[in-house]
Amino acid sequence: MSDPRPVGVFDSGVGGLTVLRELQRQLPHESTIYFADLAHFPYGPRYQAEVRQFALDIIRFLQKLDVKLVVIACNTATAAALNTAREVFDIPIIGVITPGAQAAVEATRNRRVGVISTEGTMHSGEYLHAIREANPTIGVLPKAAPDLVDLVESGKAQSPEAEAALRHALKDIIEYQADTLILGCTHYPLLRPLISKITGDRMTIVDSAETTAQKTGRVLDRNGLGSSDAETPIHQIYVTGSPERFTEVARVLFGEDLPPIRSVPVELVGQPRGREGAA
Ligand code: DGL
Repeated sequence: MSDPRPVGVFDSGVGGLTVLRELQRQLPHESTIYFADLAHFPYGPRYQAEVRQFALDIIRFLQKLDVKLVVIACNTATAAALNTAREVFDIPIIGVITPGAQAAVEATRNRRVGVISTEGTMHSGEYLHAIREANPTIGVLPKAAPDLVDLVESGKAQSPEAEAALRHALKDIIEYQADTLILGCTHYPLLRPLISKITGDRMTIVDSAETTAQKTGRVLDRNGLGSSDAETPIHQIYVTGSPERFTEVARVLFGEDLPPIRSVPVELVGQPRGREGAA
């Protein structure tokens, strides 16, 4: 049996494209619809309830486009909305935190894991919970690195400012002697060359793109939702707000294969409605 409907993927901006790229690599026959909520970027400093509302509205939009599964390719939105989204919608919904936490639990040898993320993700405590759930003896040092997201989104992932912000964010984690570092924000894999320069061979770097794509493949398989090998995939991107910068950074990741980008009205996301979460 084959299900050609697309997989929906979303983030506040370019970060989730790191997950999208890995999904397309591992599941080359799946069609995708990527949604970037540029009008409300960044999610990191916002209240959880607000991010949750954005996420539910985006999933509602994706569901209208007949997606068969949604990947929340944003740690902040996963922390704020995954549980509620699973209560509200009846399609499978996958977040990025558990897959990243599991990969770190498997990677660490000295049982010390550092996590860099947005403030929202750090305050949620979700990485700590997911890691401790898998292995209660692992020590976790979370650090918020709020400046990094802006730097990535504005195309400055290789800049001296990015290097200074990263050195600051990683200082305590290096002193803590963590042997594993979780990139707890989907924007951070774009900083990987600088992160490797700073951490050298001290740490295994874990980003959840690979494990999230693996999990998506498993969920599709188990539920008979995979598309057949004969399928030619169609990829689409929707954004709220203005896509100029997004397009520039996205081209770094996808080159000429960048799918067409369509703008949708900002009001689609985050407008008050009767009852929060009503699908
Ligand atoms: N990429 C998002 C994440 O993984 C956060 C970026 C933002 O602050 O909007 O948390």
